[in-house]
Parts: sequence; C-alpha cells; structure tokens
Amino acid sequence: MTKKTIKSKIQVCVIGTGRIGLSHEFDTKRVKPASHVGMWIKNKKCNLKAICDKNKSQFSKAKKLKKDLIFYRNPKKMLQEIKPKIVSIATWKDTHFKITKLCINQGIKVIVLEKPLANNIKQSKEILSLIKKYKVKVLVNHRRRYDTEIIKLKKKLDKGIIGEVIQASSYYVYGLLTTATHTIDTLRFLFSNIAGEINAVYGFKNSFNNFSSPDDKNYDAVLVFENGLRVTLQSLDMKSYDNFDFHIYGKKGKILITEIGRSILKFSVKKSPEHSGFTELNQKPIKLCKSKPRNQFAKLSDNAVECLKKKKALPLCSAEDSFIDMEIINKIILSAKSGSKEKKIKFK
Ligand SMILES: NC(=O)c1ccc[n+]([C@@H]2O[C@H](COP(=O)([O-])OP(=O)(O)OC[C@H]3O[C@@H](n4cnc5c(N)ncnc54)[C@H](O)[C@@H]3O)[C@@H](O)[C@H]2O)c1
Repeated sequence: MTKKTIKSKIQVCVIGTGRIGLSHEFDTKRVKPASHVGMWIKNKKCNLKAICDKNKSQFSKAKKLKKDLIFYRNPKKMLQEIKPKIVSIATWKDTHFKITKLCINQGIKVIVLEKPLANNIKQSKEILSLIKKYKVKVLVNHRRRYDTEIIKLKKKLDKGIIGEVIQASSYYVYGLLTTATHTIDTLRFLFSNIAGEINAVYGFKNSFNNFSSPDDKNYDAVLVFENGLRVTLQSLDMKSYDNFDFHIYGKKGKILITEIGRSILKFSVKKSPEHSGFTELNQKPIKLCKSKPRNQFAKLSDNAVECLKKKKALPLCSAEDSFIDMEIINKIILSAKSGSKEKKIKFK
C-alpha cells in the first residue's frame, strides 16, 4: 500500500489488548474479526496505527497481524503523538471511566468502549455529561445491537410477526453485570417500539450458587416494561453449560433465540391434534436465520466510521443505553437485597 493511501485513512488506536482487545483474534472457532485490534485492521477505511497496554506481553502477537504497529504503555503519550480520530477502549471495567475521560480531554470525538460504561452510576453520569459537553460519540459494545439478525428480528417484532407480545423469559450465565447486562440491553433493544422502556424491576437472590465472579453475583429478576409486559431474567450455571436463550410469546406464535444467539426460530400456531377447537404451538419451527454467528465487530467498526464521517450518524449502542442498562442492574440488586420490593427506573 502506498504512503498516500495509508495517510488518507482514518488513524485508529486501541487501548487494552487482552482477550477482547486482541487474543480472541487467534481463537480458531470465532468469526473474524473477533477483537478490537482485528476489526480495525480489517476495516479498509482505517489504519490501526498504535496499541497501548500496561503489559507488553501481547505486542508480539499483535505484530503477527500488522507488522508496523507501534506500542505504547502510556495512553496519554500515544494519543498526543498519534492523534487518532477513533480510539477503542478494551481495558478492565474499573479503568473505563479514567481512560474515557482521558480520550475526551485529548479531543477524541469517536470512542468505541467495551461495556460497562463505567464502574458505577456516579462515574457514568460524569461521563455522560462530558460526552454531551464535548459532542463525543461513544459506541458501547453491547454486541447484539451490532448483530444484523437481531436488528432484523426487532423489525419483524415491530411488524407483528408473532402478534402482540404478551410474555417473555430470558436466561444468562456468569454475573449480572458481566453477562446479564447484554441480556437486558438486548431486551430493551428488541422491545423498545412495542413495549417501551423497562420502568420497574423486582430482583431475587438465587440460592443455587450458580458460578460467577465473587464481585458480580447472579440475580434473577422480573423486568416490567412501560406497556405492562413482564419479562423474567433468570441465571443458570456456566460450569454446567453456557446459555443465552430468549423465549418470546406473542398472540400469534413464539420466537426462540437460542444457541447463544446464533439461532432464531419461529413457532407458529396450529390446530391441536388432541382437543377439538384448541390450538397450540407447532413444534416444528421455521428458522429465521442460519445457525451461525454474525460479524458483529465489522458492523461495530463500520458504525464508528459512519459516526466520524457523518454529523447525523449515531452509535447503534450509545453511552445513554449503557447507562440505562447499569441503572436497571443496580435496581435489581437493590430490590433483591430489600426482599424483592419493586424498584422504579427513571430513564429520562
Ligand atoms: N462486549 C463483550 O461481549 C465483552 C466480552 C468480553 C469482555 N468484555 C469487556 O472488555 C473489557 C476487557 O475484558 P477482557 O476479557 O478482554 O480483559 P483482559 O484482562 O483479557 O484484557 C484487559 C487488558 O487491558 C489492559 N489494561 C488494563 N488497564 C489498563 C490501563 N490502565 N492502560 C492500558 N492497558 C490496561 C490489561 O493489561 C489487559 O491486557 C472488560 O470491560 C469486559 O467487561 C466485553
């Protein structure tokens, strides 16, 4: 590639090159790109110029993907020397606040941030006000919002593919903040037009000791949407098996999202073979998509480029969305600790 072509590309940097930052790119089972470093190298409009990590051990791995990469230990030095237009942050969650603030203060206008937005509500509010003040676009990687089949499903639900949605249940493993945050975000995305926002929650402690990190326990919950739709959120045990199922019941059928999101199935209504005048769900579902993972990282980087180039373009998953997800999680924990009392969510 000529120097001129590289120069005309958007300069990008990545901070944090651990698993999601880099290593997943070397997982032979994953669809590529599968990491922040990978998605920027694959994006033809961008030039990943430098990476930054506290630890240099991953640098040789990154150079296998792009040999002219520059390494920094100090993010501020990297931002000042490289002057990137887009920065990805894939560091530990307790550093997101400090590093996002640093990027905003250094004039970065498009930031791709791993979830969660920050470590707590107070920090998240500060980030939100900085985003507003400096007109920054922050794309949070709640990856189902970058999944083309989930986006199509939302449109189909809006059009009534299973009629009016009247009940739903969802399942997750390994921590309310680590994983259920994706479940909650996906539910809010899927149901925003047909049910509104989640405006109340009831949280429950789970007594089965399902596996999770000690600082991020598994809780169960009932999530109540503005139109009255109630959705259960239930934790399973990751050491037994992974699960990310959604069962959505409408008056004209059912949708099942299963196989960790890879498969989306539609069950229609048929006449009962057993009882005259009754109907039931047909247990031979129609596949709404192929059972294979979608290229969510490619869509994420495309969305970031669009956000940089077009004034009106918006993040598919914004910092505000991530903030609401965090509020919901906090209220679930508060409710569970106060005898499962209803907790209202203020989302505007
Ligand atoms: N969106 C998703 O589906 C998804 C999946 C996995 C992880 N995550 C999120 O991604 C983030 C990273 O998770 P991971 O599993 O890749 O962690 P990891 O520990 O594998 O990698 C984090 C990297 O960040 C570096 N780092 C930490 N603090 C730093 C700092 N101040 N400056 C520079 N480098 C720093 C570490 O040295 C490490 O290499 C977490 O916030 C996690 O919640 C998101």
